Amino acid sequence: MIHYHTYDALVVGGGGAGMMSAIYLSRASGLKTAVISKLYPTRSHTGAAQGGIGAALGNLEEDHAEWHAFDTVKGSDYLGDQDAIDVMCREAIDVIVELEHMGLPFSRTPDGRIAQRPFGGHTHHHGQGPVRRSCYSADRTGHMILQTLYQNCIKNQVEFFDEFQAVDVLFNEGRCVGVVAYEVATGDFHVFNAKAVNFTTGGFGRVFSTTSNAYANTGDGPAIALRRGIPLEDMEFYQFHPTGIYRLGILITEGVRGEGGVLRNDHGERFMERYAPTMKDLASRDVVSRAINNEIKEGRGINGKRYVYLDATHLGAEVIEKKLPDIADFCRTYLGVDPVKDPMPIQPTAHYAMGGIPTDINGRVFADSRGTIIPGLYSAGETACVSVHGANRLGTNSLLDLVVFGRRSGIDMARFCAESDRGPLPSDAAGEAISRFERLRSGTGKENAGKLREELQITMMDNVGIIREEAGMKTAVEKVEELRRRYLDVEVMDKGTRFNTDLLEAWELGNLLDLARVVAVGALNRTESRGAHSREDYPKRNDEEWLKHTFVRQTEDGGVEIDYKPVTITDFQPKERVY
Ligand code: FUM
Repeated sequence: MIHYHTYDALVVGGGGAGMMSAIYLSRASGLKTAVISKLYPTRSHTGAAQGGIGAALGNLEEDHAEWHAFDTVKGSDYLGDQDAIDVMCREAIDVIVELEHMGLPFSRTPDGRIAQRPFGGHTHHHGQGPVRRSCYSADRTGHMILQTLYQNCIKNQVEFFDEFQAVDVLFNEGRCVGVVAYEVATGDFHVFNAKAVNFTTGGFGRVFSTTSNAYANTGDGPAIALRRGIPLEDMEFYQFHPTGIYRLGILITEGVRGEGGVLRNDHGERFMERYAPTMKDLASRDVVSRAINNEIKEGRGINGKRYVYLDATHLGAEVIEKKLPDIADFCRTYLGVDPVKDPMPIQPTAHYAMGGIPTDINGRVFADSRGTIIPGLYSAGETACVSVHGANRLGTNSLLDLVVFGRRSGIDMARFCAESDRGPLPSDAAGEAISRFERLRSGTGKENAGKLREELQITMMDNVGIIREEAGMKTAVEKVEELRRRYLDVEVMDKGTRFNTDLLEAWELGNLLDLARVVAVGALNRTESRGAHSREDYPKRNDEEWLKHTFVRQTEDGGVEIDYKPVTITDFQPKERVY
């Protein structure tokens, strides 16, 4: 059954970026706005960002938006666009005040100001040592942002379609006119006709076998865009967070190191002193993850195994219970380890996509590397690539990105909606999405989606992970092609309509496969090391050839095409990156 709806503005994804844009849309008079979310919004993955949101408030020591911008550019290994970074770091201060006024319960200094802690790569005076810049709510900052934004959406009467999986985006004469969604509870399809659509569906960490990402993070937005001919930017840059719980991948916040926790190898050595003499355990994530990887490779993992320790035992029970209560709980629950008394076994975990749907600083989506705007189509948060993170994101800049650019996209969508008519739907608007689902539901081949997903995740982890080289990436590209072929023979066991998670997971696997292909192809193509893209066969950054963004497009015949866009450099010329 197909249902039809008409709105002015649609937001796809109920995380921080989506809800921030919805709040701004709901403030514009007369706009009919809805949020479509595959989850209940407060379960969105924004909730997993624990340790804080970056802003140079300077509450505890001198700090400036310009220092924040410098650190972000350096963190990005000079691939971030400096105009966008400047916007993000300047607006950070105002957006924190706004969140506080919305009711966000930040942790406090003794004199009542918003508390701030150090985080990786955030420094004073352009690299002179750690600065306290991360505004936090214990180790539940993302969770508190979600709750606050959701309450404000409800207050502003934003309409929510919860547990609606967006499955297609609709165009008419080059302009975005709506989306198609699948209702999880009934299996019905819904066609939404709108003036403007904002894709804020989060990341795709489920491409890898060890990840901090929730099961829902299957890259639905970028995959839908890719299938509709929209290029994706800088997909080869995927961040591994240094501290995931060993084997499980669940995040242990960088806030632990911000509070003074240290990494130790099997010899009890604080090994980060060797890799980053100034910032040590608070170097940028790419540097720390590579260091852990190297310690393990050289046999200094704990008992020779694939993990090291994150030691917070010297912080004392009061600091841990007050400032890091959730991670203490995770460790006690999942590992039987009490971080007050024992070090935590950790390994790097796939965490964050720097790349995504290319946008300008107002969230407007680019159709190509020349900057042609697609009228009515927006994207923000991890789904998008503005690009403020370049080749490596600094911790705390994800929550910041999503509220700053969620807000900017909401404001620009409201302007666009006020100036535009609603474009008509294309004929048979839901046709393509429905046939994709029906093909899957009626498939009688012998392939199992869960098995294919596992093979994909292991292939990507082994060959397109923290350290890469040509042969491994070629293996990954070939394996992903093989899995894409086998995907056509997937058999879904549940043929029903209601809560058919078997069918949905098979559909999500199609997204993971499409995205894994562009990650692997982009990585193989970039013959240098930069930020999170670290190649053994090309160990150096090569600005002469590679100071440029990658744009990858899926062609009509199912192939992949690569193009480039120059990096915007304003204040900070590229230089060697040391911590
Ligand atoms: O470590 C953390 O708390 C994660 C934060 C982030 O990814 O920004």
